[in-house]
Amino acid sequence: MKALSNHRYHILFTFYCVTLMLALTGCNSKKITLSGFQNINPGQPWPDADSVHINAHGGGILFHDNTYYWFGEYKSEHTSSAQVGVNCYSSTDLYNWKPEGVVLPVSDSVGSDIEAGCVMERPKVIYNAKTQQFVLYFHLELKGKGYSAARVGIAVSDKVAGPYTYLRSLRPNAGVWPQNMTEAQKNSSVTMADFSDWWTDDWMAAVHDGLFIRRDFEGGQMSRDMTLFVDDDGKAYHIYSSEENLTLHIAELSDDYLSYTGKYIRVAPGGHNEAPAIFKKDGTYFMITSGCTGWDPNAARLFTAESIWGPWQQHPNPCVGDNADLTFHSQSTYILPVAGKDDAFVFMADRWTPKKPIEASYIWLPIQFENGLPVLKWMDQWNLSIFDESNEL
Ligand code: DGJ
Repeated sequence: MKALSNHRYHILFTFYCVTLMLALTGCNSKKITLSGFQNINPGQPWPDADSVHINAHGGGILFHDNTYYWFGEYKSEHTSSAQVGVNCYSSTDLYNWKPEGVVLPVSDSVGSDIEAGCVMERPKVIYNAKTQQFVLYFHLELKGKGYSAARVGIAVSDKVAGPYTYLRSLRPNAGVWPQNMTEAQKNSSVTMADFSDWWTDDWMAAVHDGLFIRRDFEGGQMSRDMTLFVDDDGKAYHIYSSEENLTLHIAELSDDYLSYTGKYIRVAPGGHNEAPAIFKKDGTYFMITSGCTGWDPNAARLFTAESIWGPWQQHPNPCVGDNADLTFHSQSTYILPVAGKDDAFVFMADRWTPKKPIEASYIWLPIQFENGLPVLKWMDQWNLSIFDESNEL
């Protein structure tokens, strides 16, 4: 099975190389874009307009002025830590991508939050119509501190393709309780000191009841895997794995998207969700996440809610078919509404290759629906014409 998929990989890779070589012969690079790809090939190398595999991992997409901008982690050959920064590509068709360059570089100043060697993951950019600024959030881990900092970094720009100015990092919602914590949970005297072991039933019950919220109340809540979501009314939300990756938080951003209003909720306490990706259809919010197994894939999870403030209801894994239990060997990062098409959403995920992070590929699949719920089916190749047919299975 593995040999077969390696074989297929090589055939397709050779096909790409030959196509690109033909395009290059006697043509300028503009022509490659014009005669470029007309399909999405999940899991295959995805050459950009310079015929280099796209380097925008854990990414998200902003549609602005009739162009898609894909922001992601610039991964290196041998390390997943940030050596370069946040990278950007643009496209008008979602198949052919032009490099726009590094929009937020790492810093060479020792001690900077974003010093080279830090971790900058899952960058997402949103546009604020009032301030006319582009706002970039990303998961930040400080250099040399593993994943213990659990912070969010914020940067802004007047131009979509940057450069972005780094503003600050923080742990969200210091000194503020979530909306959906009871008075008993807030006032509980149970602390970390009451547990010599983690992962026991009692400990899990305490986590459910806000053990980490209370621990981190003053300094702010942990913030790791993340996405941003702008609702129809222009309000924006930061959705992130908090509480030692055990509980998701949804936090409302201020009108300028640069800080927090202090309104936030916990989702699936103790549920161990990472990699949140969200979209809205017909008034319902849909969120796809992963479990927490490092760089290894696991089964996707699906949640729905009629209000961003919940209650959020969990449903079975939206993936079906072979390798559904491993999200087709990938982990969610973003869900893209296709511009100009009704109810057309693209599930975006990363197939991580931690031994050679730069080679990680992209698993993009169209979201189909069955009984009102999203369904993800593997496709070797597809294009946007799939959305011209009914997406109801
Ligand atoms: C899983 C996360 O989803 C990734 O973004 C990354 O943080 C890895 N864990 C690190 O192990």
